[in-house]
Order: sequence, then structure tokens, then C-alpha cells
Amino acid sequence: MTRIPEAETAYDRRRRNQWLAGEARAEGVGRRDMLRLLAAAGLGTAVPMSLPAATANAAGPTVSSGEGIVKPLPPERFIVHGTNAETRFEALAGTGYLTPVSHFFVRNHTTTPRLDAATWRLKVWGDGLTGGERQFGLAELKSLPSVTRTAFVECAGNARNFFKTQQNQPASGTPWTTGAIGTARWRGVRLADVLRKAGLSRKAVDVMPRGLDDEYVTPDGTNYGRVRRPMPLSKALDDVILAYEMNGAPLPPDHGHPVRLLAPSWVGISSIKWLGDIEVSTTPLYSPWNTDFYRLYGDAYPPGGSAPLTRQTLKSAFELPWNATLSAHTRHRLTGRAWSGHGGITRVEVSTDGGTSWRQAHLHDPAHRGAWTRWSTPWTPTKPGPAELLSRATDATSRTQPRTTVPNTQGYLFDAVVRHAVTVVA
Ligand code: MTE
Repeated sequence: MTRIPEAETAYDRRRRNQWLAGEARAEGVGRRDMLRLLAAAGLGTAVPMSLPAATANAAGPTVSSGEGIVKPLPPERFIVHGTNAETRFEALAGTGYLTPVSHFFVRNHTTTPRLDAATWRLKVWGDGLTGGERQFGLAELKSLPSVTRTAFVECAGNARNFFKTQQNQPASGTPWTTGAIGTARWRGVRLADVLRKAGLSRKAVDVMPRGLDDEYVTPDGTNYGRVRRPMPLSKALDDVILAYEMNGAPLPPDHGHPVRLLAPSWVGISSIKWLGDIEVSTTPLYSPWNTDFYRLYGDAYPPGGSAPLTRQTLKSAFELPWNATLSAHTRHRLTGRAWSGHGGITRVEVSTDGGTSWRQAHLHDPAHRGAWTRWSTPWTPTKPGPAELLSRATDATSRTQPRTTVPNTQGYLFDAVVRHAVTVVA
């Protein structure tokens, strides 16, 4: 049984009001942009109104699951948190722009399922289609025009642990430091093309992709069902792809084999792995992952929580172990990465004196929204003892990492400057 939380009622009201105003499929995207997206998906501009139809509830195909994460997780590259594996940021040094699969973090609600690409089918269904359910095999998806996107996948809770260690405001959830992110080159087919092929109705407003991994059951026995999260049509038709390749090779088991969704710039939960079906609906859709989870709750937010999270926030990190030791009177090359879901990185500043003075780091990659930029700066420490290194990124929308992040109970979207502890030795 799927739980219907209190927050869902409030969200339902908000989305229903948008729907009644004919704005549900756009979810904040401007009219002109929405018309362009609809035209590209083969839809005209008329937006007829009708009463919501009851949405069907489809059970996904049954699959057998493997246990845990399939790929090796050597301790020099990963920190294991239960069913998840965080990349050690220092292990990214020298890996190049794209994160190799051998270093890419894994966020699993349950365990990686082993799916057979030869028999795998994607079911597209719901009252938002004109001609009823449509199935696609992998060969058919590959016969459609392919696109590649270089984009990060980053967990909304990345850096959550710093709410506790830097702000003394602990939050529930996996205690990630900064390694719940990786950037890859994804190849696949545009979701817009698949929806068009399936027969997208002019009345469609939401799509809900769902994974084939096991149902998510919490330790207290609550069963949330299969991992799924709706997104408005404006995002679905924009830059979302159904990816079947990662860094030039077939998608590996832990990252969604044979096909995952890739929603560039958005919180990682939007990029559903092991895709099994996509519901297309004429009414707003809900799942615990856009009502209970992945919204901001807490003193600074309304009782029903914020709107569901969409874009990722801004961060930067040093490719250095925590408490690294660095020799005094030696010129070190400090390296790191910075990224934002709102715009490309335009500036990174570094402080080696705990935030009193800042200097600009050298940027090694062009600004690219939804992917990261590598940076470096030299440092010759003089005084032995503990020190704090800080990096502060600014993106093309002029956002700069703040000193602290307004807390939320689930510890999402930490964007504050991280104070990285090191020790200088004589
Ligand atoms: N999709 C399914 N089916 N099951 C999951 O557990 N985890 C989500 C998302 N897609 C998840 C999923 C979350 S929270 C994140 S951050 C990303 O996948 C992580 O992708 P990765 O494991 O390839 O790094």
C-alpha cells in the first residue's frame, strides 16, 4: 500500500489549481517556451479543458533483483552508506572531465536489479496518450534519432552532512559529504520523440517514469511502492533523454541498465534508473517522491513544504582527502570542481585563511549548465598546524555559494561554502 501523506493533499491543491488554470503542464515555464516545446513534440497550440479522468494504476513487470551494488567499491574510491556508495572527491583527481563508471557514485533505494536488455520492454501508458498503451524494446529506441548530453547526476541530499558538522543542524538521510555527484556523457533518445511516437495527447500535463527495482520498504514497514517521480510536460519535452549509453558504453547495471531517464540539471531522483514504464497523464500525478520526499520542510518553509525540488543547487569541492596533510613551504596545486543546475560556473574563489581573504582560481572548462567545471590554484603554506581551505563558486545566474544554507529537515540542497580541514606539516 502506498502511503498518502498530509503534504500530498497540499501539493494536490496547488497542482489542481494550476491544472484548472490550464497551466499544469508548464509548471512555471513561460508560454512562449511551452509552445515551442509542444510544437516540437508534434502538438498544436490549442489547450482544451476537460474534467480529470481517474488515473489507472499499472503494476510494473516483475523482475528478480540482485543484492546490493554490482560493481566493485574499493575503499580508496568509495564510502559506502548502506545501499549507497559515495565517491571520494579526492579520487576524482586526474580522472578527467567525465567520471568513469569505476568512480561514479551509486544511489539505490533497494538493490541493483539484473535486467536482460534482450527481453526488456518500456511501457508508455495513461490517459495522456491518444492511442492507448505503447511498448518499446531497446532495438526500437535505438532506431530513433540519438542524442548525447554531458550532464551530472547529483543527489538532492549531496553534502547533507555539512548541515550537521558546519551548522549544528543535523538532518535525516544519508550523510553524504560532497561525493554524491558524477558527470557522464549520456547517449539515448529524446523523451519528446518517444512520447510523440506513443501519441501524446494535447491534454497531457505530467509524465511519471517508474523503475523496475524492488518496491521501497522502510525499516518501519512502510511500502512506498516502486521508485517513481512525476515531472511536468515542460521538462519532459525539453532536455530529458532515455539514456542507454554512459561514457560510450552500454549503461552498466548500477546506473540503470538497460535504459534510464536523464533529467539534466534536476535533482538526481528525477533520473529514474531501470526504466520500466512511463505514465502520461492529463491530470497532475503524485508519488511519495514529489510529496513526502524531495521538498523542503522546516521552520523556514510552509507547513506543507516547498514546491517539489527541480533544479540542483550550486556547489564546489576540493579534490583532497578530509584532513589531508600538506607540507609547509612547498608549492601545492589545489584542484577541485564546481557545478550548478542553474547556470554554468563563471568564477571560483579560494580562501586558505579560513575565509578572510579570497583569490580567484583558474577555470579549466567552459561554463556549462548541468555539468561541472574543473579549477585549480597554487598554494604554498607557511605555518604548520591545522588550516581550513574554502572554495566559493559563482554561476552564470550570479548565484554565489553563501556562508550557510537555510536548514530543512531532510537536508536537501546544501549550497554553503564547505570548510575543508587540512593539516600543514613542517
Ligand atoms: N531510480 C530507481 N529506479 N531507483 C533508485 O533508487 N535513485 C535515484 C535516481 N534514480 C533511484 C533511481 C536517486 S535518489 C539518484 S541521486 C540517482 O538515481 C542516482 O543515480 P546513480 O546511482 O546512477 O548515480
